[in-house]
Amino acid sequence: MCGIVGYIGFRQAKETILTGLKRLEYRGYDSAGIGIVTDEDVEVYKEKGKIEALERLIKNVEIKGTVGIGHTRWATHGVPNQINAHPHQSYSGRYTIVHNGIIENYKELIETYIPNIKRESETDTEVIAHLVDHFSQKGLSTEEAFREVIGKLEGSFAIVLIDGQDTSRLYAAKNKSPLLAGLGQGENMVASDATAMIHVTNTFKELKDGEYVVLDHENLIIKTLDGDVIDRDVYTVDWDTSSVETGAYEHFMLKEIDEQPAVIRNIITQYQDEQGQLNIGRHLQGLAVPSRVYIVACGTSYHAGLVGKRLLEQIAHIPTEVHIASEFLYDQPLIEGDPLFIFISQSGETADSRGVLDQIKKQGYRTLTVTNVQGSTLYREADYKLLTHAGPEIAVASTKAYTAQIAVVALLSIYLAEQKGIAGSIDMFQELRTISTAMDALKDMKDKAKHIVEEYLTDQRSCFFIGRLLDYAVCLEGALKLKEISYIQAEGYAGGELKHGPIALIEDGTPVFVLITDQRIAKNIRSNAEEVVSRGAKTCVIAAEGLHEEGDQWVLPRVHPLLTPLVSVIPLQLIAYYAALERGCDVDKPRNLAKSVTVE
Ligand code: M6R
Repeated sequence: MCGIVGYIGFRQAKETILTGLKRLEYRGYDSAGIGIVTDEDVEVYKEKGKIEALERLIKNVEIKGTVGIGHTRWATHGVPNQINAHPHQSYSGRYTIVHNGIIENYKELIETYIPNIKRESETDTEVIAHLVDHFSQKGLSTEEAFREVIGKLEGSFAIVLIDGQDTSRLYAAKNKSPLLAGLGQGENMVASDATAMIHVTNTFKELKDGEYVVLDHENLIIKTLDGDVIDRDVYTVDWDTSSVETGAYEHFMLKEIDEQPAVIRNIITQYQDEQGQLNIGRHLQGLAVPSRVYIVACGTSYHAGLVGKRLLEQIAHIPTEVHIASEFLYDQPLIEGDPLFIFISQSGETADSRGVLDQIKKQGYRTLTVTNVQGSTLYREADYKLLTHAGPEIAVASTKAYTAQIAVVALLSIYLAEQKGIAGSIDMFQELRTISTAMDALKDMKDKAKHIVEEYLTDQRSCFFIGRLLDYAVCLEGALKLKEISYIQAEGYAGGELKHGPIALIEDGTPVFVLITDQRIAKNIRSNAEEVVSRGAKTCVIAAEGLHEEGDQWVLPRVHPLLTPLVSVIPLQLIAYYAALERGCDVDKPRNLAKSVTVE
């Protein structure tokens, strides 16, 4: 959803901020803008559409200045147009602001404090700028006025403010929307995430709800809303600009698919001590083995949760339920015993999952977040946290985050099994090493994926993915991947369920992708495939070595039976990628989707 950047330092703010905004494009947006402090004023430029449109607008304008703010807007209040794009300025012109999120009480605030103000735009954001102006005209300093306003806002927000009368500092605050501070030498930044600042710094400070931050060239001071200074540790990330650029790749998605073997190897390194032992327990100090696990997630992370359930049940013998966060929120199941709630989220910012975390914490249950983003809301607010160490995932379609989530839950399952004294558990590091080698082989089979797309998906409007047990979970993910980036209607179905209804949709030439990685059901799923072939479907069989038959389209390397999703998903990711490419779709930024879904 929206992206936000603020910079104060010695570099040209225009370029620094535009670079940051481009790194936030993956979040999804429909207009963009910047506000730069120049010798003259705070100059605001904004445009509907992509950042390129904004760049065209300012191509021939000299905008020199080393302080500024920028924004990519995903419309909520008011249509996506130039007027509603951020930054917005206060009625006197003194304050310039960018804002992510939704201010729920903006109408009440207008009525109470600024009933006579004429708004330029339809946005709730503009109201924040007017309110700061209002309180400063009542005699408060800018910092006091900012604090006063922040304390009155209800809803979600990440805000950066410039005072046109004192441009030596920026003010920023957050509530339920992501905002991170970046620290440099003689320069400081805030942005929606680290990727937008990595060209300036790799050193960050988390910002929390109920705080605000004042930045100047040298200092970045975090305070409570009472004005007390908060001491916060810094942390560094071990990636650089190459992690957030496509490099030799045409798209982030393909780059991220290819990064999966390295991600698995990195996870091994992160969770193994020098003696080769699992040391994930250092992140789980004090966590007693739960009697039951509830996994809560959305989208691809939910699909990883389905695999996680099997791992936790088979390896650690812990009954596990998996829930879609947006459903759980309003239909909480009966909770038994002394459970652990596991939130799986690439971004750590998904509003639906955050809603459940809030709800569950109020009920006093233990929580653990598995996420890719250190410092994200779900990371900060859970009792325990495990990072997936996948590096930034930029493409909207999640790939390496999915496999990383499964690998981390596999290690967690081993840890819990050890805690329970379950003997003879799997040598998971060895199995993961085997997986990474298998992934290396699969990612080099891109021609096969291209040929399959040419044969099966050039002009089809719909298709099926069928499998049973873990293969069914992967089919759901394969179908989601294909539909979100190629816009082909794709259904993931349990092979045995087809005859109970959906087989009615099979007609001549309907593509049906069949996954077979489990010996126990290999015969049954082949029968299900026969059932659709005899009704005209065109099957593409992806089978594990040893279970394959002549004529199968793709043979997968054999891996541990509980870890097959880590390899079987790769052909499906590649097929989705090449299908989207074939159809001329915007692979990394599919229509209507945002990477980080921060509204309910
Ligand atoms: O950041 P999260 O993992 O919480 O995001 C959840 C979903 O929004 C996400 O997985 C979405 O389904 C992806 N676009 C799938 O590729």
